[in-house]
Amino acid sequence: MKIITTPADFIAWRNENQQSLGFVPTMGALHLGHEELLKNARANNELVALSIFVNPTQFNDKKDLQNYPKTWEQDLEIAKKNGVDVIFYPDFESIYPDNYSYIISENDKSKVLCGASRPGHFDGVLTIVLKLLNILKPNRAYFGEKDFQQLSLIRGMVAAFFIPVEIIPVAIVREFDGLALSSRNVHLSDEGRKIAPKIYEIIKSAKNIDEAKKQLEDLGFKIDYLEEIWGRRLVAIFTNLTKTGNELRLIDNVEI
Ligand code: PAF
Repeated sequence: MKIITTPADFIAWRNENQQSLGFVPTMGALHLGHEELLKNARANNELVALSIFVNPTQFNDKKDLQNYPKTWEQDLEIAKKNGVDVIFYPDFESIYPDNYSYIISENDKSKVLCGASRPGHFDGVLTIVLKLLNILKPNRAYFGEKDFQQLSLIRGMVAAFFIPVEIIPVAIVREFDGLALSSRNVHLSDEGRKIAPKIYEIIKSAKNIDEAKKQLEDLGFKIDYLEEIWGRRLVAIFTNLTKTGNELRLIDNVEI
């Protein structure tokens, strides 16, 4: 498994390795959800690339960026186990030579839901994903449906800019009790971890949005948003039931 740290080196590698490439972009802290993306990539491409880059431009909250879990050794094991051929692991300077003065911005879908509560978040996501697609030139790129708004915005960007890549959505992977896998789940306290699966249970079974909101609030969750849009019921909640007592934001969605 090769590890490449600069855009120039990756571009050179890709020129020499022109087989079909499946790409899984991540910010590390890999879990079973990422493994599912890697498995899909492995099954349908000759080569598999994984990127690990905690992208600061998509964090509107500095604390959230500082607290983002880093598990490099474990990530390497997971990558090896899933047959990754090459890891792209750039630093900020190499991937933002412009110091983020050029920005991809979407003016409609990115302003609601997660975009409304995390200003600038999707500008950062779209900008880094465009950079990664331009450097890696994959045939297919894999994104989880858990970040459903992110997935639809990336699809929209790929169509808008005629980027020659197929975006493959992968269904949400859940814990045995229904909690959607997320790198942020490690921050939940024991009590938080016990009630967090209720988020999925409630959005799946409530008759309507008002009922779901009430049930979530009765459990002590603070609702960021709960909406039905794009054929999905999407939710973001805040909880203080964390190991540090700091507020944690969790998202989930179900098809309607
Ligand atoms: O979903 C993520 O992990 C990130 O938003 C992504 C797509 C890797 C961009 O930094």
